[in-house]
Amino acid sequence: MTTSFDNAAQVLTPPEPGLLYLRSNRAGEMGLEPGGITQTDGVITAIEATEDADLHIDATGCALLPGFVDCHTHLPFAGWRAEEYEQKVTGVPYEEIARAGGGIVSSARALRETRDDAVLQQAREIAGEMLDHGTTTFECKSGYGLSREGELRSLKLATELGRAVDQPTTRTALLAHAVPTGYTADSWMDEVEAMIPQAAEYATALDIFVESIAFGLEHLDRMGTLASSHNLHLRAHVEQFSTMRSVGIALGHNARSLDHLSAIHPDDIQPLGASETAAVLLPGAEFMGNEATAPARALIDAGAIVVLATDGNPGTSPIFSLPMIVGLGVRRYGLSTKEALAAVTLNAAHVLDLARTTGSIEPGKRADLVLLDAPSEHLAYRLGRNPVAASFVAGEPVYVRPDAAWRIMKR
Ligand code: NIG
Ligand code: FE
Repeated sequence: MTTSFDNAAQVLTPPEPGLLYLRSNRAGEMGLEPGGITQTDGVITAIEATEDADLHIDATGCALLPGFVDCHTHLPFAGWRAEEYEQKVTGVPYEEIARAGGGIVSSARALRETRDDAVLQQAREIAGEMLDHGTTTFECKSGYGLSREGELRSLKLATELGRAVDQPTTRTALLAHAVPTGYTADSWMDEVEAMIPQAAEYATALDIFVESIAFGLEHLDRMGTLASSHNLHLRAHVEQFSTMRSVGIALGHNARSLDHLSAIHPDDIQPLGASETAAVLLPGAEFMGNEATAPARALIDAGAIVVLATDGNPGTSPIFSLPMIVGLGVRRYGLSTKEALAAVTLNAAHVLDLARTTGSIEPGKRADLVLLDAPSEHLAYRLGRNPVAASFVAGEPVYVRPDAAWRIMKR
């Protein structure tokens, strides 16, 4: 089955074939020219349209982009925490909400008390919304289990979710998210060490929340050692609220990504920029939590692999729309459209170790595509409007907005 995407106003292409990531100071080298794409049986075969196709997509006036990759979500979880948001906006600090039994602990309670089918139902609905917003691949994390059984259940549910949704997914074991009652950070890390072999059956990465209210530098160091000894990627939530100076330690373990970075120390920007560790910025959490703004421009100048993600979770960022994240990121960080696009496509795929198969429009890659009904500059500019007309996974139109149905024509 061959599909031809015809007559797009913009097609986003990488500066050269075969790149597994693009340092953001090279984003300007990407192409965003008029053109077309041909895909056969789920794989991109040419960066031009063809007459001879079973299906034609009329992309007149549209931007044709790689499907968006959301490399940082906290799916699956149970319920929401809207009441906390009201506390937060009226002045109660996150740390105080957390210490009073809210925050991560309350989502852990909700997860424990919710049956598998209800957790999956909620997560499936969210995955559907993500598809409508152009997300064709996403990451799931555990982290609301807060017990050995709870974490493994969460990873199993994430695996089931992956089978039930249209998008390819990955799993990260966020085994050190909050210190469970009855443990110290050290004794919980012993528990983490014991559960990693089982977690590794489901997950490709380990994650840890390094913060004054969570885990410390020595635990990050230990997680890094555990990750490499189990052949898992290390990812870490760092420098979100306080400057912990975790970057050097994480780089010493070749972390795949460091996420948040709103409070990164200026001296840590250069080494991070020179490394192969991606800087995953989460403007949804920054905006909703009124956090400091990560120094994105300085990171880009230092050569960093900058990524944008939703951090979709019921606490700090109940946002699952990458168009919204691009809009927030562009404004807060001062990103160009191309910098923002690289950050939600190729560079995000790199974080998930999927850049060989997705994340850019080039022959040989899976035909994961998003069709915008406007030029890509409108993503950030018309903030809050969803310009996604259709999303394609492996060449299949898995979401088509009703008013764009006419664009898809069988021969
Ligand atoms: O990425 N920072 C820690 N973890 C989440 C928040 C989780 C929650 O509040 O439920 C985050 O922001
Ligand atoms: Fe997170």
